[in-house]
This record gives sequence, structure tokens and C-alpha cells, in this order.
Amino acid sequence: MPDTVTGALAPNPPIQPVESGTPRPQSVDDIGQFAAYDGGVSTAACGAADSRKHVVGRDDVLMDRAAELLRHAGKVVVFTGAGISAESGIPTFRDSDGLWSHFPPDQFATMGGLLATAAGSPRRVGEFIIALLEPVAKAAPNAGHKAIAALQTHTHVTVVTQNVDRLHQEAGSTRVHEVHGSLFDIVYRRGGTVSVLTRPQMLDIVATLKKAMIGSFPRTAMLAAIRPFFGIGRCGLYRPSIVLFGEAMAEPDWPNAVAASHDCDCMIAVGTSGSVFPAASLPLEASANGATVIVIDPGPARGDIGLRGTAGTVLPELVHRAFS
Ligand code: OAD
Repeated sequence: MPDTVTGALAPNPPIQPVESGTPRPQSVDDIGQFAAYDGGVSTAACGAADSRKHVVGRDDVLMDRAAELLRHAGKVVVFTGAGISAESGIPTFRDSDGLWSHFPPDQFATMGGLLATAAGSPRRVGEFIIALLEPVAKAAPNAGHKAIAALQTHTHVTVVTQNVDRLHQEAGSTRVHEVHGSLFDIVYRRGGTVSVLTRPQMLDIVATLKKAMIGSFPRTAMLAAIRPFFGIGRCGLYRPSIVLFGEAMAEPDWPNAVAASHDCDCMIAVGTSGSVFPAASLPLEASANGATVIVIDPGPARGDIGLRGTAGTVLPELVHRAFS
């Protein structure tokens, strides 16, 4: 959501995404760091999770405990990050070879950085748009997305995602809050939808953009290529509704996500490094309100119950163990 969105869509005060470690909005200042979060609710679970730091693969006892919790939870929030879509072919941001290792966020993930890069090196911005769009345009939901969609046939599920790829909805999840917006919704900066892109349209933009970048002075051809995605229309500047650093969180998705996190018995956080606030505060908020936090990630175990492994393997098994 652009920072200049006004009227009913504008959050008051705007809450902006920041990397953990940088100064944060007051509203999340005292929440702590999900990145460093290792539970705190269940000592037994934490101890077990710690002991798994050197274990490769999944742990049956922890998986059974998580399944038991899920079976009895009245309301579940599934909080997802880039890792859930990795098995759909979309790179994460901070893993080795992640998007930010090729396109530093200060140059590509703020509006000011993007405009400065475009002025000095439009070809780099073209490369960035292709790197961002092409994997999303080609992606389909994986077993992890499908397991989350299947979960809602058994219990009350709210999906809160930082992803902009719309794969949860495509998998069949019906209650989804996209707190960092979407690559598919093309909106005016001042509010109002221009269009909703399809994956084939996104692929067309990528193909046209690639052709436009062949010339020696590609700026004009590039701008024409990305017109369905970014440009100036009757009501001013339009662009995807994605949230860049320094911009306001998506509305009404963000307040809805906060409310759901406060009101759940169990949160499953999948495929997120917990590096970007305020989104990373949600598991801590859920925990502070009494929810048990299950973290699914191939990296070091975190949460009350840390299940190490990929989303596409752990989630289907967790749902299967809980409900079959
Ligand atoms: P990150 O790239 O920071 O973290 C990805 C996480 O996914 C890591 O913890 C990985 O270990 C994990 N992972 C990798 N492969 C996985 C798999 N197959 N299954 C499960 N987990 C896997 O991505 P996010 O935490 O989503 O925001 O990043 C948060 C925000 O940072 C994004 O929404 C974006 C970015 O900057 C903005 O640009 C505002």
C-alpha cells in the first residue's frame, strides 16, 4: 500500500515495515525479536526444540505434540513468509541466493531507492522487475499451500501472509490477509483499483520487458513494457499494491491480521525469518495472548514447538497427523 494513500484506506498512524535491528515504530518497540524468539511458553517444548538444533529432519515427538495442539485448537492462524513459496520456485529474500543478495533492499525495496536506481541504471530496475515477476508468474501452489487450505476443512483458519504471490488463495484458502499487499492488484497511489493481473498477463509483461531491454537506450521501451503494471493513468500514478520499506502496511489486512493473532489458540509460523517488523511481531503478540506458536522452517528451531523441515513436507504431515 503506498505511503500516500489517503482517506478510509490510510492507517492512522501508518505502520511501516522495517528490518529488525533498525529503529522501529513505537508500536512494536517493546515486542522483541521473533528472529531471536525461542518460545518461552512451554519449557519442555523449548528444551526439545533446542536439542534439535543439530538434528537434520523431523522429530516425531514434536510433530505429535504439534498435531495434538492443532487438533484441539479452536482458532488457528497460519503466518507465512517467503519460505512457504520456495518449493513453488519463488526465491526467498535472505537465504543464500535470495532476492536481496542480487538486489540490495536499500536500492530496490524502497520507493526512493528504486527511483534513484531507475535514474542511474534503468536496466538494473528492469532486471529486478523480471526477477520479481517471472517466478511468481510461473508459480503454482505447492503441498504446503495445499495443506493449509485443507486445514480449514477441519478447524477455523486465518492465513496471514507477508507474501505477494497470491498462492494461498489459489490453493483454496478463503480467509487470507496479505499484510505486504499483492503483486496482482494494480492500484492508484491515491486509492482505487486499476486492474487485477493474471499470471499469464504477468508473463507477458516479463516477455515484453525482456525484449525492451535488448536495445541500447531501453528506458522508453521499458516504461511501455511495464505499463500494465506501473505508470500514470487518469487518477495519477499506479503500481502494484505491494508494501515497500517505509510504506504503510496494507489495509484492512494489517489490522485484521493483528486482531486474528490476538484471538487464536495456535499460530503456525512457516517460512519466515522474522526479520521485518511489524509483521514479525505477530507470533510474539499471539504468544503474549496465550497462543502456542509452532514454527516450521528448515533453519534453526524456534517457537514453542520448532519443526525443522520444508513447508511442503512438514505441513502435509502435520495436518495428516492432526486430523486423520
Ligand atoms: P526471508 O527470506 O527473510 O526468510 C525466508 C525463511 O524461509 C527463512 O527462515 C528460511 O529458512 C525459510 N525457508 C526457506 N526454504 C523453505 C522451505 N522450503 N520451507 C519452509 N521454510 C523455508 O523471507 P520473509 O521472512 O518472508 O518484505 O521476509 C519478510 C519480508 O522481507 C518480506 O515480506 C519482504 C522482505 O523484505 C518487504 O519487502 C517489505
